[in-house]
Amino acid sequence: MNTLLAKKIKFSFQKAFKTNPLMIFSPGRINIIGEHTDYNDGFVFPAAINKGIVAAIGKSNSNQSNVLAVDKNEIINFSLSNLKPSTEGSWQNYVLGVVAELQNKSKVIGNFNITFGGDIPGGAGMSSSAALENCVVFGLNELFQLGLSKQEMILISQKAEHNYVGVKCGIMDQYASMFGIKNKALLLDCRTVQSKSYKIDFKDHQLILINTNVKHSLSDSAYNERRSVCDSISEMLNVKALRDATKYDLEAIKDKLTPENYQKALFVIQENNRVIKASNAIEAGNLKLLGELIYASHKGLQHQYKVSCEELDFLVQQAQRNKNVLGARMMGGGFGGCTINLIAKTETESFKTFVSKAYKNKFGKDCSIYSVELSDGTGIIN
Ligand code: GLA
Repeated sequence: MNTLLAKKIKFSFQKAFKTNPLMIFSPGRINIIGEHTDYNDGFVFPAAINKGIVAAIGKSNSNQSNVLAVDKNEIINFSLSNLKPSTEGSWQNYVLGVVAELQNKSKVIGNFNITFGGDIPGGAGMSSSAALENCVVFGLNELFQLGLSKQEMILISQKAEHNYVGVKCGIMDQYASMFGIKNKALLLDCRTVQSKSYKIDFKDHQLILINTNVKHSLSDSAYNERRSVCDSISEMLNVKALRDATKYDLEAIKDKLTPENYQKALFVIQENNRVIKASNAIEAGNLKLLGELIYASHKGLQHQYKVSCEELDFLVQQAQRNKNVLGARMMGGGFGGCTINLIAKTETESFKTFVSKAYKNKFGKDCSIYSVELSDGTGIIN
């Protein structure tokens, strides 16, 4: 966690509200493999990282609540009765949504103040939104002693996103951010919402992220559309979710599907299998196989599920041409954000230089490159 950021956020709270806050850090996440499988009740393989959102939170004596986004220097004030989604369509609904979902669960809270900021860019596919939701729900739970378990809190965060933000997301981001474990990745079964942790030490290899610094605007609507295709195909197959289907089941209804939708469902089934194979490869220390699965995941996301974009494909292509990168793929919902790359440590600097130049030449803008440490999940900090 970024201690300078924490200091800055604490200071902003003290300055604005003249009291001492409770400080919360909630991490963003990476995902090694398993994309668009979470809302199909399938498997994912995320880990919390050492970057995320820091929030300062305290009770308010006034008749309204105030939330200040320090990085953007934007503030909202609202009354706890009559909450409704903000038309601003930015960070506001992550906060308002959590408050509304707490109220839906008949949890009684009083007015509060929050200041927050982060060190992951929004739209990078590293789940700054889940980190913010988790900060708010965790902070309010502490402040007003609501007695919620972490499992209950992540469901509230997820519902906030469904009902206030309008993205019908799965549970991966909120789970990873809340339950992350230092130096470990979590093989999460999104049906049972239980995970098994895997120590991540790739010895002479490491994971790096390359941010395209783009987020194409269709991403939210395309996300919901993909989800509804999956839901309707599982209904046709008479199963609860695509997690329960095999490619043979799918084959049997192939003539009732458009070729595009057939490929989408096939992708989900294959990607779900890749997650299990990848966890076995990690256990066996077989990084070559892990890398191949990661490349295969990208290929499916690009050609079958069709959630990639030119910038992401370009970065993966550059990685593929370099034998020191064992695997690379787009990460998160798609249409922009980051690629995740499994790369030899000794070759990282030269690849960074090469890929930065190539990206700039091709798109006339910079990509950003991050190395990440795997960290603990949401919690109180000093
Ligand atoms: C977004 C969603 C997640 C998940 C990924 C794709 O990050 O919030 O629930 O569906 O996309 O794997």
